[in-house]
Amino acid sequence: MSRLVTKLPPLTLSNPIMSASGTFGHGLEMGAIVPPERLGALVSKTVTLEPRPGNPMPRVWETEAGFLNSIGLENRGLEAYMEDVLPTVAAAARAGTAIVTNIGGHTPQEFVQLAQALGERPEIAALEVNLSCPNVQGGKLPFATDPAAARDILAALANVTDKPLWAKLSPNVARIDEMALAVEEGGAAAITACNTLLGMAVDWRTRRPRLALVRGGYSGLGVRPVALRCAYDCARAVSIPVIGCGGISSAEHVLEFIVAGCTAVQVGSASFSDPGLLGRLAAEVEDLLEREDCPDLAELCGSLTEGAPCA
Ligand SMILES: Cc1cc2nc3c(=O)[nH]c(=O)nc-3n(C[C@H](O)[C@H](O)[C@H](O)COP(=O)(O)O)c2cc1C
Repeated sequence: MSRLVTKLPPLTLSNPIMSASGTFGHGLEMGAIVPPERLGALVSKTVTLEPRPGNPMPRVWETEAGFLNSIGLENRGLEAYMEDVLPTVAAAARAGTAIVTNIGGHTPQEFVQLAQALGERPEIAALEVNLSCPNVQGGKLPFATDPAAARDILAALANVTDKPLWAKLSPNVARIDEMALAVEEGGAAAITACNTLLGMAVDWRTRRPRLALVRGGYSGLGVRPVALRCAYDCARAVSIPVIGCGGISSAEHVLEFIVAGCTAVQVGSASFSDPGLLGRLAAEVEDLLEREDCPDLAELCGSLTEGAPCA
C-alpha cells in the first residue's frame, strides 16, 4: 500500500486511517474484527490522571443523522492505562501501527503530569491532547475556546516531553483557524479537527431531555460538512499536518478530507454501525485511488481548487 504511506513528522504511518478517540476502546478490544495492523494509528480513549466514572445515564442518543453522547471521559485513569493497556498494545506497535494516547485534564498541571508519565513509554508514538471535550466542565470548553490557554498548554507539554503532540480542537468556536495557529505556535506537531459539536435532544411529550445532562457532543454522519470546513480552515491557517475527523464513513469521505488539506483522518461514530469499517477502509481508499488514476495521497492533499464548477 505504498501510495497510502502517510507522513506526520516525525512519524511515518502505513496509511492515513486512524480510530477516533473514545469510539474504539483503547484499540485492541476490536482486535477480532479489526486487525490493528490495518490502521495507520490507534488512538486511545482519553486518559485522565485519576479514574473517572463519567456522566450519569442516559448518555447516548441516536438521531436521524449521527448521535449525541455525554460519556464524560469515563476511564480507569493513568495508572491502569500504563499497567494494563500499554503492554497489550505493544504488539500492535511492533506490527507498525502507531499507538497514540489521547490525554485530558481539568488543569494545565494535569496535562503536564500525564505527558511526563506517558512520555517515558516507548510504545507510544504520539500524544493527542484533548483540548475539546464538550462533556466535562459543563460544556464550557476552557482550553478549546481560548487561543492563549491552548497555546500555553501545548508549550508546557512540549517542555516536558519529546513525543509529538497532536492538538485536538473543538468545532464549537467562531474562529478555529485562530485556535489552530495558537497550538502550532505552542509546539503542536499536528492538529486533529475536530471533536464533537455541542448539541441536545428533547422528548417534548415528557418535557425531558434525552441525555441526563441535557447537552452532549454530536457526531457521525450529520457533522461531516462542519468537520470538513473546520479541517479546511485549519489546513489553510497552519503549516503542520491536519488530521480530519467528523462523520467519515467511506473511502470517498476520506478523499474529500484529503483534498481539503488533511494528511490523515480519524473514524469514530461510523464504527458503531459498521464495526468492520476500520479494517477495510485503507484498502478501499487504495482501490479508489487506483480506479481514479491518482498516484498517491500526497498529490491529492490540499489540492482543492476554489471557485464552484459551472453547472
Ligand atoms: C461515544 C463517543 C465517545 C468519545 N470519546 C472521546 C474521548 O474520550 N476523547 C476525545 O478526544 N474524543 C472523544 N470522542 C470524539 C471522537 O473522537 C470524534 O472526535 C467525534 O466523534 C467526531 O468523529 P465521528 O463523527 O467520526 O464520530 C467521542 C465520540 C463518541 C461518539
